[in-house]
Parts: sequence; C-alpha cells; structure tokens
Amino acid sequence: MQTPEEFVANLTAMAGRIPQSFINDLLNRVDIVDVIDARLQLRKAGRDYQALCPFHNEKTPSFTVSPEKQFYHCFGCGESGTALTFLMEHDRMEFVEAVEALAQLVGVEVPREQGGRPARDNTDLYDVLAAADRYFRKALRQSPEAIEYLKARGVTGTIARDFGIGYAPDEWQGAASALAGMGEAKLLEAGLLTRGEKGRAYDRFRGRIMFPIRDTRGRIIGFGGRVMADGGGPKYLNSPETPVFHKGRELYGLYEARQALRRIDRLIVVEGYMDVVALAQAGISNAVASLGTAATEEHFQSLYRYTGEVICCFDGDAAGRQAAWRALESALPALSDGRGLKFMFLPDGEDPDSLVRARGKAGYLELAARAVPAVEYLFGRLEEGLDLGSVDDKARFASLAMPHIDRLPAGILKELMASRLEGLTGFRPSAQARPSRGPARRTAADVSLTPLARRLVGYLLREPSVVSALSEEARRALRPLAGNDLLAELVTYLDEHPDAETPELLGRWTGHDLHDELTGLARQPSAIDIAAVRGDFTEGVARYLEMQQASARRQLISEMHQDPSAERLKDYWSLKQGPRDKVSGTD
Ligand code: UTP
Ligand code: MN
Repeated sequence: MQTPEEFVANLTAMAGRIPQSFINDLLNRVDIVDVIDARLQLRKAGRDYQALCPFHNEKTPSFTVSPEKQFYHCFGCGESGTALTFLMEHDRMEFVEAVEALAQLVGVEVPREQGGRPARDNTDLYDVLAAADRYFRKALRQSPEAIEYLKARGVTGTIARDFGIGYAPDEWQGAASALAGMGEAKLLEAGLLTRGEKGRAYDRFRGRIMFPIRDTRGRIIGFGGRVMADGGGPKYLNSPETPVFHKGRELYGLYEARQALRRIDRLIVVEGYMDVVALAQAGISNAVASLGTAATEEHFQSLYRYTGEVICCFDGDAAGRQAAWRALESALPALSDGRGLKFMFLPDGEDPDSLVRARGKAGYLELAARAVPAVEYLFGRLEEGLDLGSVDDKARFASLAMPHIDRLPAGILKELMASRLEGLTGFRPSAQARPSRGPARRTAADVSLTPLARRLVGYLLREPSVVSALSEEARRALRPLAGNDLLAELVTYLDEHPDAETPELLGRWTGHDLHDELTGLARQPSAIDIAAVRGDFTEGVARYLEMQQASARRQLISEMHQDPSAERLKDYWSLKQGPRDKVSGTD
C-alpha cells in the first residue's frame, strides 16, 4: 500500500514542473518574517527577529529570522532555511504544497513548465541598484549644495542616513561612468540610465536629491529624485517600471516603518517622500507614501498585510477630496472584517511635512485622532445635496451607494452597510436580503474568484460554447463541486443548457454576490483566436481541478491529524481515486 507521502510524491511528479524562476521570484516577493510570524511568536531583536526554536526544545530563544537575508537559523540545533523550507519542515508540507501556500500568500498562480521558458533572475538588478545607492550617498557627502538644501529643509543627518538619502550630481555621465563596470544594458534595465535620441545612454537622474525606494526586505528597487532648484524639469522624477519596481505595488517608507516599529498598529498614507521623511524625523515612524500615483487596490492589500488600520492623509482642498474619493474606491475591495480605513484632512495649504514642522508631533497626531472612518465619509459624500426625506432622493441615494457596498468583500462591514442603507432608504440590496428565506446562497466561491477562476469564468461568459471543449472526465470532476464553486456551477448549467448565451447566464446569476464582477467579465472583449481560447480553457480547468484537489487534500490531512480514524483514512484514499487525477495530465 502506498503511504500518504508516496501518494503526494507521485502527484507532484505528475504535475508539470514548477519553473525555478517562479520559485525565485516567489521567494523575492514573500517576506519570511510574515510567514514565520504567523506561526511562532517572533520578537524583534536588533535587525532580526527571535523565537523559541520550533525544531528543538529550548527555554531561551536561539531561533533567529533575518529579514535581510530572508533566512532563518537556529543557533541551538542548526536548522536553517528559507520561507519555503520552513513550511516544509514546520508545517510538514510537501514541496509543491509549500510553493502553492506561498503563492497564495502573495496572490499569484503557480505556473507549470511547458517546454523550458527562460529563467529570469533579478539578482543582478538588485546589485546594480545597490551600487547606484552607494554612488548617490557618496555623492551627497561630497556635495555642499545638496547638504545645504537638506539642511535648509530641516532634514537631520540621522534621518538622512536612516532613509539613505543621496544625491545625483548634475552630470550626463555621472552614474553612467561611475557604474560602467556593471554594464550599460543593466544600468538601462535598472532605470538608472536613459537613451537619448541619438542612441547614447545618459544619467536619468541629474542634479537631484535621491530617495531610495526599498522593498520590505530592505533591497533597493528604485529611486525618486527631487530637483534642488525649481525649473530643472519635473519636481520629482521616479525610476521607471522595471522587473523589480512596480509603482502600483510599492510603498515608500514601509521598510523603514517596519525597521522602526515592532508592531504596526496603524499606517498613515501620505503623498510625498518628504512627508514620510519629515514625519519620521518628528517621531511618527508609521507613515508611507505611494509613489506619485494614487493608492491602488494592490497598495491597500499590501498595507493590510502589515497593519489592521490605515489612515489616509489628504490636503484639505478640492484636490484632496478628490484623492480621498479615489483612495476609497481602491480600498473598498480590501476592506475585509478587521481592517479599518480612515481619512484625515489637513488645513488648506499644508502638507504633512509643513504641518509637522509647524505644529510638532502632537499637533499632527491630534489631527490624525480626528480622522473620519472611510465608510462614514462615503455615506456623507453620497448624501451631499440630497434630501433623504424625499422618496426620489432616497432612490437616488440607494442607487449611488449600492455599487460601493457591492464592492466590499462579504463580511460584517458589508452587512452593516447594507443595513444602514436600508435604515436610511428602506431599500436593502437583494444579495443580502435573505435571512427569512433560509440560508443565503453564500458559499466559498461567493467571497471572491481566484485569478485563474476569473479567467475561466470570463471565457465561459463571453463564449459559452468553449464548454464543449471540456472532456467528459473534466465535467464529471466539476459536477460535485457545483453549489459552492462558480466555475463548476457555470459548467454544469451549460451542460444542461447547451444553447445558453451570455444574457441568459448573467440573468441566471442575478443577485449573486459576484454578479457585478460577472457582468464586467462578460463585457470584456472576446478573443479573436477561439482555438487558443479553447486550449487555454481546457488546460486552465485541469489546473483548477488540481488546485481544488490539493486544497481538499490539505484539508483532509489536517482533519486526519485531529481524527485519524479508519473513516477519515478511507476519505483520504478515495481522493486518490477521484476523477481529477485523470484530467490533470493535459499533454
Ligand atoms: P508634491 O508636489 O506634493 O511634493 O508631490 P512634496 O512631496 O510636498 O515635495 P516637496 O515638499 O515639494 O519636496 C507629492 C508626491 O508626488 C510625486 C512625488 O512622489 C511626490 O513626493 N510627484 C510630485 C511626482 O512624482 N512628480 C512630480 O513632479 C511631483
Ligand atoms: Mn512638501
């Protein structure tokens, strides 16, 4: 008889190989501190974190986690490794399972190798950026004007060091020649150089104060540069998007905040580099800034990985109110239960930098304490100019508020907002209004769709005929999932109604929590190459089933730990016989 380990190993062998480049990239994106902190009580100790070692018995902590090296090591028993090995050793996960767990943590799909795609390793870009950082910091020490500029703005030497502030000399071939040894191609890829019309590469940043942008592990991923004298091009210039720098994802100051604070009770989102720096200098170390863009949904998801409460700080003027509205729209989908969002508004003409210098830490925190919960702000803004005593305005208000409530993830906040809308208007969004008619049709799939599920559901909605490309086995495997899995429901429905077209499908799922998302997916342009869609669809379904099976298996394994009875074991083995095994091999 196969042992469970052998069974899992066979399954692993059956699945396509996971490209090494993906695993490297994954390890670059997760933070080992988060992974381990979720399982052990980590305490900050200098630059590292410590805990009682989970791999041997001890009374004083010798287990150390280094955020910089992304490595754990126990000085007692010698165990060491990465986030991946930790999950394998500590949670006893299989390799593939551990990769999937990490991928889920950062919200990406695990790709499988299909004929070697070239590996991509960004290590050298990080090296190039680190070298540029050293070059800029050295240049600052050698530039009296730059030092004078920072002094005039009240930046202390200590804070300049903590934030690694530097200076890009006003030269066309400054970094280009100082870093020539790293190769022009790499310097261009890292965004440090740019190419002129004649094809010659030259320094992107010239005559600017340089703010290095670090990822949560402290690696430099890009720069923001401020002109010292107005008139020399745009006030701030940021690194372009590169393989390691994605503006929509990164937050300036997050690394520094995590260095300064053991627990981050809340994070304050401000607009500018100088705001973050000035607040930190005043002793407010929990400020971060998005990089010259409005905060995105991805920003919020990332903020809430590190804290339970986010306060967005805006100017008090019209532009500030507009920015608040945009931030609110990006944040709504991230507001699951336990996550707070507030808005604070500054007096006209002030920014956090000027305000904290004028009124000090206490003055700034006083304003922060008066921040408005974002959902209050939402209802307040929607109500503006309406008279909720009038039936017409009640209806208008309900229709304005509904789409926002729809965008909240299922949970208490959403229910509360729906109740509140009902209290104000007498109108209750239908998806929530079912308590008296037995249990609402709310299932795991209702909460959200994974990116893969979204793609597959999108194909079905736009081109229902692709369902015919599925093998009989795949349909059979999906059928039992229908009821708590939207993809399975759609496939099953189309099996029974082979002529159903898009409007019928949308009509069938009216009132579903994801109806708006479904409508959005249906509206996306259809692909031209229907053969490619069919291929991607069948392959995607196979992968989807594999993932379903892996998670069912994880669930069973954990249940078996609790209840190792014969009944459970039988369940476990029956999973192995499940039809999904047969569809997982698509090649
Ligand atoms: P602000 O114009 O409010 O500047 O831009 P600031 O942060 O107060 O800077 P100081 O005090 O004048 O030095 C806010 C943020 O918008 C982005 C930058 O990220 C900046 O920190 N920005 C601004 C740009 O990306 N480019 C620009 O030209 C201006
Ligand atoms: Mn400013």
